[in-house]
Amino acid sequence: MSLLKNLQSLEKQYAVLEPTQHQRHELNKKIEDFSDVFLDDIDNIAAFNADDKVTSLFKLDDQRQNLDEILSIYRKDVIGKGIVASSPGHLGYIPGGGIYASSLADYMAAVSNEYAGIYYASPGAVHIENETIEWLKKLISFPQSAVGNLTSGGSIANLIALTAARDKFKIKNEVIRKSVIYLSPQVHHCLHKAVRIIGLEDIQYRIIDLDENSRMLVSDLEQKIQHDKDQGLKPFLVVASAGTTDTGAIDPLEQMADVSEKHGLWFHIDAAYGGFFIMVNSKKEAFKGIERADSLVIDPHKGLFLPYGLGAVLVKDREAVLHSHHYLANYMQDAHQDHVTDSPADLSPELTRHFRGLRLWLPLKLYGSEPFKICLQHKLLLTQYFRNSLKNMGFNLGPEPDLSVSYFWYACEASIQNQFNRKLLEYIHKDGTVFLSSTLINDQFVIRMAILAFRTNTNTIDKAVIMIKKALKLCLKDFKLIA
Ligand SMILES: Cc1ncc(COP(=O)(O)O)c(C=O)c1O
Repeated sequence: MSLLKNLQSLEKQYAVLEPTQHQRHELNKKIEDFSDVFLDDIDNIAAFNADDKVTSLFKLDDQRQNLDEILSIYRKDVIGKGIVASSPGHLGYIPGGGIYASSLADYMAAVSNEYAGIYYASPGAVHIENETIEWLKKLISFPQSAVGNLTSGGSIANLIALTAARDKFKIKNEVIRKSVIYLSPQVHHCLHKAVRIIGLEDIQYRIIDLDENSRMLVSDLEQKIQHDKDQGLKPFLVVASAGTTDTGAIDPLEQMADVSEKHGLWFHIDAAYGGFFIMVNSKKEAFKGIERADSLVIDPHKGLFLPYGLGAVLVKDREAVLHSHHYLANYMQDAHQDHVTDSPADLSPELTRHFRGLRLWLPLKLYGSEPFKICLQHKLLLTQYFRNSLKNMGFNLGPEPDLSVSYFWYACEASIQNQFNRKLLEYIHKDGTVFLSSTLINDQFVIRMAILAFRTNTNTIDKAVIMIKKALKLCLKDFKLIA
């Protein structure tokens, strides 16, 4: 066979990779119908299914299957197992829901396969992406000169921020062991992970005491920094949270900024969960001082209800971010031009990546920011509504929450209290109508409620109350506390 014939024959054999318009319509229609059936029923399906046995049909063994079969397996064994993250009843960990406009943006971005890492490759995509960063900077009152990056989530965003802090303060070699980080016992574990990933495992940690609302005590922070300085150590980084994962606490940002500034430390704020509540007027005061951070993380896949896959980091010192992330390479020489704006790849460990900015930009263009703000306001009130119901049922409640994460427990004899509440959560998970998770507060097992999924409403809470009442009754019987 001639080379030409051979090529033509091969082209025919992989033509399946480029469906015709008719085939595309058929595929799209199936996905669209599937999405409609799923979303139209989203209020009625359980938020959690503890069954984790998944099908052998996931196996990739070159046995072809049609889309109908695949969708039915997907419905049963992907959506139907574990947490239904799009459900209004997802009140565990940090939910968001996943707004539809973002899934359409993902589709658009994937169809034209924009290369959003480098300005030269897709100036339009990079402009859109940087425009979302500008929007976030304005929201947080960061200066024009700050830079930012859209990441896959809060963990990578925190990693980028801490890398910049490390590079700015030149924490390397023998300096590592003498340097000190100050953080809350409630800091998200991705910060500990980031410290290790960036080679600072041997750094010293100081865990700051908390007040009764789980906010860091500035007096303890100040005292520990001073003590370390007196010992000849090198205080380096202060990490605050604007909304902890455990309790939603907002640390005293303004005072922490004062202390960090006084001692010349890098001040980082993890606002991955709580940051967007700054849009709500009643909460603005609690965020005072946020604009003084050196770096900040804020996750649209939490507080703006986007489907999973979008965090963001903002850093004031551009050079500090470029230090580890900006590289030149021979094969990239065409892309090295004087450009008008930063390329995402210069500010992140990633080069090629999904054009993730569109999933944030499109909904903001379509709806503006107002519905997001109102939805967040609604979630704060809904948290109160849930807490009132729990109180009426006889539960003990954690302190008045700063945001929309709160916790409760059933008080009984100290020796069995943790066991009782663990069992109670087991019954709640078995039921699954609404999903709740748990945490430990001073070694006490408590049940958490995190109200952030945009679909969560009063119906959800009313269903949760019925579910919890049932679970409590079963638990009380198990522990022979009622007949
Ligand atoms: C406060 C906080 N920071 C960081 C993270 C990590 O974010 P991600 O899961 O998007 O990596 C989370 C996740 O829940 C969080 O609640």
